[in-house]
Parts: sequence; C-alpha cells; structure tokens
Amino acid sequence: MESQAASANRYAVVGNPVSHSLSPQIHHAFARQTNLSIDYSAIKLALDNFNLELRDLQKLGLKGVNVTIPFKRQAWEICDHLSPRADDAGAVNTLVFREDGDIAGDNTDGVGFTRDLLDNHHALIKHRAILILGAGGAVRGLLAPLLSLQPDSLTIANRTLKNAEILADDFRDSGDIKVCSYNELGRDKFDLIINATAASLDNEAPPIPENILGINSICYDMMYGIDSPTAFVSWAQRCGASRALDGLGMLVEQAAESFFIWHGVRVKTAEIIAGLRTYQEN
Ligand code: ATR
Repeated sequence: MESQAASANRYAVVGNPVSHSLSPQIHHAFARQTNLSIDYSAIKLALDNFNLELRDLQKLGLKGVNVTIPFKRQAWEICDHLSPRADDAGAVNTLVFREDGDIAGDNTDGVGFTRDLLDNHHALIKHRAILILGAGGAVRGLLAPLLSLQPDSLTIANRTLKNAEILADDFRDSGDIKVCSYNELGRDKFDLIINATAASLDNEAPPIPENILGINSICYDMMYGIDSPTAFVSWAQRCGASRALDGLGMLVEQAAESFFIWHGVRVKTAEIIAGLRTYQEN
C-alpha cells in the first residue's frame, strides 16, 4: 500500500495503477458542493494482496472505497452483502465498510453510464441497435441496465470471440446478446457504438469498419480524454458519427452515485463534468 488517508471522514479509490485517477478531485468537488468534509485519496494496492490490504484500510477507519482496475471482480468476491446490480454485474466498484464490520458492495458503473447517455446526452436506447466493442470487466456493469432499456438488438464484438460468448452466456437471463468478431462487422449499421476495449490505453481504436455507422449513429468511448479526444472519439469524428462522446460524464455520474451511497446526498454533476475537461467537445 503506497499511501494512507489521514483524517476522520476517510474514503479512497483503490487500484493498480491508480495515480491517474480523477476520483479524488471529483469527490472533493462533490464535498465542496454539498458542504461536507471528507478526505478522499488514491491508494495503490499490490496486485497479489488485494484482500489483506483492503482489510488494512478497513482497520484504519476508512468508511468506504471505490475500486478500479483490476480489482472489481475481487472486490465482488469479498463482499458480505451485494446490491442486486452488483450481483448482476459480478463486479463491484463501491464498497461500504459498515460499522458492524461487514463489507457491502455496489456497482455504480451501469447507472453512471445510463445517466450520462440518457440524461446528459439525451440518447435513445429503446428499439435501437447497440454494438459494444470489447468483452472485459468494464462491460459487465453495462449489460443488464442496457438490456432493461429494450434495445432492438445488442451485439458484442470482441478480438477474442470466446470472451464475448462467455459474457453473453453469463447474461442470457437479462436478454438476448449477439456476438461476433471484428472482421464480421460491416453488414449491419448500429445506432449506438460503445467502445469498452483496452485498446484506448494504447491510444488506439479497435479495428472496425466505418460502414457500421448510419447517419444518426452515436459513438461512445468508455475511456475519456481530458486534454484531447480519445483515439476512438477521433475515429468516430473522422468517420462522420452524428455524435462522438467519451466517458468523462460516466466517470462523474458513477462517482455521484457512490457519493450518494456513502453520504445520502445527490450532487449536481454538469458543472463538475464541464470543469474537468480542458478541450472543447464537438
Ligand atoms: P476492462 O476491465 O477494462 O474491461 P479487461 O477485462 O482486461 O479490461 O478487458 C479488456 C478488453 O479490451 C477485452 O475485450 C480485450 O479483448 P480480448 O478479450 O480479446 O483480450 C480488449 N482489448 C484489449 N486490447 C485490445 C486491442 N488492442 N484491440 C482490441 N481490443 C482490445
């Protein structure tokens, strides 16, 4: 464990790597907006010692943590109590260290995503054809909320087809999910294309043909760019997507839901999203 928070109302985001995380900045902005006093830090946990190091944070008196890459699945496994949406997702991004010593887990990624897409960007899911690129942990939190909004179809395209098949199978009780590899794309157009691949970490867009875009297609990158557009957002702009959005709003919205779980207070997110971005979206 690399650093420790040091005051009474303590929270943190735990991950590895985690130094890039905007969560401390976002939670402190929420606290200022709601006149709460909190201490929220970013703590890097060892890759092979998640459970013990997390228990150490609990012993230190932290009241809760956000969990990021690569620990969301392990966090799900150690919870004594899971919200239905965390249970559905099989992954946890928000932990509450309860006074009775139990750990309660929730997953706010799905609600963060749908709030950003539906409330902030007024996108439509019902009767639309949705394509998700990638089949990793980041997708798990999205599938049940997306399917509950009754899209016309939901397709997952992934580099390794097997991983998409496993995901579709895990979520078959939530609805019908089609799977394909990238080289099968091109026959159908999609209304909403969501990039959830780790290709963004190398500043690359996944290898997809531009003819999957229709005139009104929206592209949404779960990654975000603060100073400049992500590779996928740049690809979408070049290929003429009607809107090319990134995940900064989702990041703030999932944080807002965690803040609500811990403090019981709703925050206004628009000004905080706008304050974080330093380049002009179009
Ligand atoms: P996360 O928890 O962020 O979803 P993950 O579980 O490691 O991370 O999943 C990463 C996803 O990005 C996977 O779908 C992965 O594809 P594979 O299942 O084939 O590994 C995808 N991915 C990673 N690098 C990629 C690249 N360069 N191009 C396309 N997809 C990539």
